[in-house]
Amino acid sequence: MTYTNESERPAERSSQSENSVVVGVDGSASALHAVRWAAREAERRGAPLRLVNVCHLMPVRHPRQISPPADYQTAVMEQGRHWLAEASAAAQRAVPGLAVVTDLRSGIAADVLVAESRTAQLMVLGSRGLGGFTSLLVGSVAVALSAHGQCPVVVMHAATQDGVPPEDDPVVVGVDGSELSDAALTFAFEAAAARGVPLVAVHTWLDVNAAGAWAVLPGTIDWTWLQQEEEKLLDERLVAWRDKFPGVEVRPLVVRDRPDRALLEHAAGAQLIVVGTRGRGTLTGMGLGSVSQTLLHHAECPVAVARTDRT
Ligand SMILES: Nc1ncnc2c1ncn2[C@@H]1O[C@H](COP(=O)(O)OP(=O)(O)O)[C@@H](O)[C@H]1O
Ligand SMILES: [Mg+2]
Repeated sequence: MTYTNESERPAERSSQSENSVVVGVDGSASALHAVRWAAREAERRGAPLRLVNVCHLMPVRHPRQISPPADYQTAVMEQGRHWLAEASAAAQRAVPGLAVVTDLRSGIAADVLVAESRTAQLMVLGSRGLGGFTSLLVGSVAVALSAHGQCPVVVMHAATQDGVPPEDDPVVVGVDGSELSDAALTFAFEAAAARGVPLVAVHTWLDVNAAGAWAVLPGTIDWTWLQQEEEKLLDERLVAWRDKFPGVEVRPLVVRDRPDRALLEHAAGAQLIVVGTRGRGTLTGMGLGSVSQTLLHHAECPVAVARTDRT
């Protein structure tokens, strides 16, 4: 069953947005891919699915307010309604009988969707949309939400668009011991438990870019001892979650490699990879840490960016 809301005020939220799985719909194939994945996720979570299209009602961005032609506004909104109807039909095909709400909004897409994320339980976006530069791997709205969203954000990549969603592949999570990777662990354990698949917890302990090129690495370093210590640390980190999710088969993996490279490698065989917004780096102005950025742009499987409490 589909309900429709229309609101012209970006800050206004309908009561149904509370705790929904929200998808940004812009008429692209990428967004439809996100809708199908989100429909199945909403079903797993027992949550309503909310499809939001944000119309940009001004034909030009201008610092001064000029009134857009009425015909233009009408056409943009009509197009938005059409995209929402198409998305809603795709959701119903993926999960017949799912409760779907569509919402036509106006404003700047990233702003409106960030506002939505304050009450959503999960936000799902396509990696690309209709606009933008074709050479970008991930569009600006998807990047903005990954960095500034207030709930976990899943970005769906085109590489998986036409394939059957792999339902038995493991969930992979990156663990660096920070508070934000704890948020990723919680999200990943829940995802693995809901799907009944193993969870691969990857921890890497060589944050050095080009160790292979070093000629001066001391030969006396006891790498085996370091490896064992890191394995112990990962095990300790996982205890609380193993207790909480006894049904999840956990595969801890300690790798001597850079985190971005190791995680990308494991993303290749995963149905979902989960990271925190940031790791232990201190450049907080970037919004999204470098490992999370690498995965967002280069992983082929869906990427979930988890975060701690809403700010
Ligand atoms: N106007 C919009 N309304 C709702 N969702 C949007 C809108 N624009 C983009 N999105 C969402 O963000 C995803 C990525 O699009 P975007 O970042 O705009 O990429 P591009 O630069 O290729 O257009 C889309 O697949 C869709 O899920
Ligand atoms: Mg776009």
